[in-house]
Amino acid sequence: MPYTFSIADTRFLTSGAGVDALQAASGLRLTGATGIADLLAVRSAAGGHAAAVVETVLLRRRAVERWGEAGADQSAGDIDWNAWLFTDEALQQAPPPPVAAHRARRIRAHLSAGKYAGAHDVTCSVGVDLAALTGAGMVTVGSDIDPVRLAMAAHNMATHNMATAGPAGPAGLPVRLVRADARAATTRGLLRYADPARRDATGRRITSADTIPSVADLDAADPAHLPVLRLPPGIDYQTLARPGEIEMVSWRGTVREAVAWPPEYATVGRRATVLSSVLGGVIGDRVIGDRVIREEFTDIDPAEDAVTPAARYLVDPDPAVVRAHLVRQYAARRGLTLLDPHLAYLTGDAPPPGIRSFEILDAAPYSERTVRQWARRDAIGTLEIKQRGTPIVPDDLRKRIKPQGDRRIDRTLIIARIGRHPQAFWCRAVPGDPGHTGRTARAPGA
Ligand SMILES: C[S@@+](CC[C@H](N)C(=O)[O-])C[C@H]1O[C@@H](n2cnc3c(N)ncnc32)[C@H](O)[C@@H]1O
Repeated sequence: MPYTFSIADTRFLTSGAGVDALQAASGLRLTGATGIADLLAVRSAAGGHAAAVVETVLLRRRAVERWGEAGADQSAGDIDWNAWLFTDEALQQAPPPPVAAHRARRIRAHLSAGKYAGAHDVTCSVGVDLAALTGAGMVTVGSDIDPVRLAMAAHNMATHNMATAGPAGPAGLPVRLVRADARAATTRGLLRYADPARRDATGRRITSADTIPSVADLDAADPAHLPVLRLPPGIDYQTLARPGEIEMVSWRGTVREAVAWPPEYATVGRRATVLSSVLGGVIGDRVIGDRVIREEFTDIDPAEDAVTPAARYLVDPDPAVVRAHLVRQYAARRGLTLLDPHLAYLTGDAPPPGIRSFEILDAAPYSERTVRQWARRDAIGTLEIKQRGTPIVPDDLRKRIKPQGDRRIDRTLIIARIGRHPQAFWCRAVPGDPGHTGRTARAPGA
């Protein structure tokens, strides 16, 4: 069970004694084996707040693991997570910083139209989105119903502004924090942004429009100025029936959010934004920084309708493209055709430059026997399985096939229901440019 922080805990953690206790605890291993001894050591410095200190150190480590060190990777930006306060659930709910930064830049662009003076994050939690909004140069108000998270956000924003201070003083624009219910309008003249919770208290993931607060309640707070909404990527946006634009955003090959942009900010009906990173490194004596790469597809882009038999390569588009129903637009941009009008697999004679694709070595109507023969013939040790349009469960099939050859020999099995029958493609993966695949790579010598 994750630790439940109290207001008294946050007060202690931000006091001089708390900062010293956190500093001392950050040098401890705090693993299962050392846990009890470590807790006793922390208790001597933190008394009744020892568990809060230990939990904070562990959560900071998780944040760094997930998002990177400040300044070392653009995915973390300039944020030093080792100075932040989190709860377990708040950390799980927060968006990856590059995704928050992308959304904040879009919000900032709308502000420049002059209608709003700044942004109000009405479900700000501990402030990851707030940091992105101020980082994009906006005057920002943050509010949340949870007093503990709000107290943590106050500390995090102060830390963030100090950390980004230039010679002239804190660079961060003012952030005002207030405890408020997002179901009521509490500010005027600010663009409202909401990221309602997707997990209930039991940790159950919410994939429908059934968020906390609900979309209907958030909209009803000020129907003339609907908020920009960050929603679960699995949301059935067609039944959400909210006017405006839906943007599916992926980061490193996983869809992270669906953003519902009200009509006043929408430029298209559907958009897929693919964010990926190229990790920097050292080449010779040059230090190459990390970069976040963005590619966008929209429903007003040219679309490819041609359906053809499999050519030499198969391509599985980024999941944001698939979720946004923009596979035909993706095919047109990459010079590919559709394998089936209802499937997201695409095909072409050449691997699209930089895109992870799959060279077809063999193809046959799907049967487990055929796949087993291919696996034995090629003496593979590693098998990746992708399927669309069939009930096959890749993990179960892999266990049954049990590749027992050399682990360095790998193949990708793609099973696609083409027309009425599943077809199996035995493929060799052609690695893409890390910028496009969402995978990361280190430059040689790094
Ligand atoms: C998904 S989290 C937001 C994460 C945040 N965007 C970030 O950057 O970390 C949802 C937040 O909504 C808050 N919340 C839930 N119901 C609320 C309500 N009625 N009014 C205001 N905040 C609410 C929760 O306390 C929680 O902090």
